[in-house]
Amino acid sequence: EREGPQDGPIKRQKSDPKAPLTLPVTASRYDAPFPFYRRPAEIGRFSLDAQRCYHGDARQLRYYAPPPTEGPSPGFDLRDGYPDRYVKRDEDVREGLDHLLRWVAQNRKELQAEDKGRPLNADFVTWRGHLTKILTTPYETRDGWLLAVSLFRGSLYVSEVETEAAREQREQRSDLLKELTYMGYKFEQYMCADTPDGTPDPSGVVNTNEAFCTVIRTRLGTHSLLFSGEVDCTDPRSPWPDPPSCYVELKTTKVMHSLAHRKNFYRQKMIKWWAQSFLPGVSRIVAGYRGPDGSVVGLESFETMKIFQLIREDPSCWKPAVCMNFCAAFLAFVKKVVTEDNPKLVHLFAWEPGHPISYTVHRDSDHIFLPDWYVETLSA
Ligand code: A3P
Ligand code: MG
Ligand code: MG
Repeated sequence: EREGPQDGPIKRQKSDPKAPLTLPVTASRYDAPFPFYRRPAEIGRFSLDAQRCYHGDARQLRYYAPPPTEGPSPGFDLRDGYPDRYVKRDEDVREGLDHLLRWVAQNRKELQAEDKGRPLNADFVTWRGHLTKILTTPYETRDGWLLAVSLFRGSLYVSEVETEAAREQREQRSDLLKELTYMGYKFEQYMCADTPDGTPDPSGVVNTNEAFCTVIRTRLGTHSLLFSGEVDCTDPRSPWPDPPSCYVELKTTKVMHSLAHRKNFYRQKMIKWWAQSFLPGVSRIVAGYRGPDGSVVGLESFETMKIFQLIREDPSCWKPAVCMNFCAAFLAFVKKVVTEDNPKLVHLFAWEPGHPISYTVHRDSDHIFLPDWYVETLSA
């Protein structure tokens, strides 16, 4: 088992022994061999329906159903149905970890740690999307983040808090951007069927309340992880038939006409695609290339494990090992800082591009995110 740099880079601000610790994010500090990452195992599934109601089953799982001729133009119109056949999830509702906690509460019997005397056999419990943000931090130049952490009965819960800048961006999203977001979901509808042998039905409504989520257990270095992530579809004809390998992540991006454009795509966007799918062990990403009129002009399939090779030729590109070593270091930093077991105590870790990671401590109720029903259920 190989370990990346862990406690090493943690620094005290202004070399004052009483100043809070910070963690640098500079990529070069984490340029070490790839750390140990255990093959992700699916330990559960749940669904959110058209009304965003939770179900402890796979009813929202869809099946990968690409067009029969993987030719240059599958004839998808990603603008079709906008905005009349579009039901958008209410983004003002801050769900936090609630759906995942509900799954944990309902499955706590199977999750018990036998020796360590904690109800959950996991160091960290979070959403896959939060881990994706951590992984890409050493290369991110635009968007900062805020992560709230509470230690409760031996497990660290990590839940994102929307930054002021992100809220402003969300509230001032242009009509063009809103339509582009719709197009990402519309692509899923063109590529997925409701049954393993079915065909897609693009005449239906696009409803972003609906989600199928996989629950994954894995380990990064010394950190055991339990996280959940939304999955676009499963491929009934996948060469790797078991979940999570059989899952397929669908993506849209602007069609590329030059090598320079493709290189830029690898540097900027592929890192996010890779991190999102690598974490839960989703083995394939299928890209739909969007033309200026909103049609899909081509499809391309990427094997998640081969993305390493695609980017290795560009020495100034991002490195998967840096992302993973940084994540391990951040988790070690969190373990070092958050030591009081108390569901009402929140440490807020903050990062802005160009700065190290810092944190603030909140004993007031404003940032508490573990709901009372969850604390009571796991205390029983
Ligand atoms: P694209 O993937 O084509 O960008 P996901 O790809 O994670 O399954 O998400 C499905 C779609 O949700 C995305 O399609 C995009 O349209 C929208 N989406 C995801 N994350 C988003 C974000 N942070 N901001 C705006 N839209 C987002
Ligand atoms: Mg998705
Ligand atoms: Mg997708």
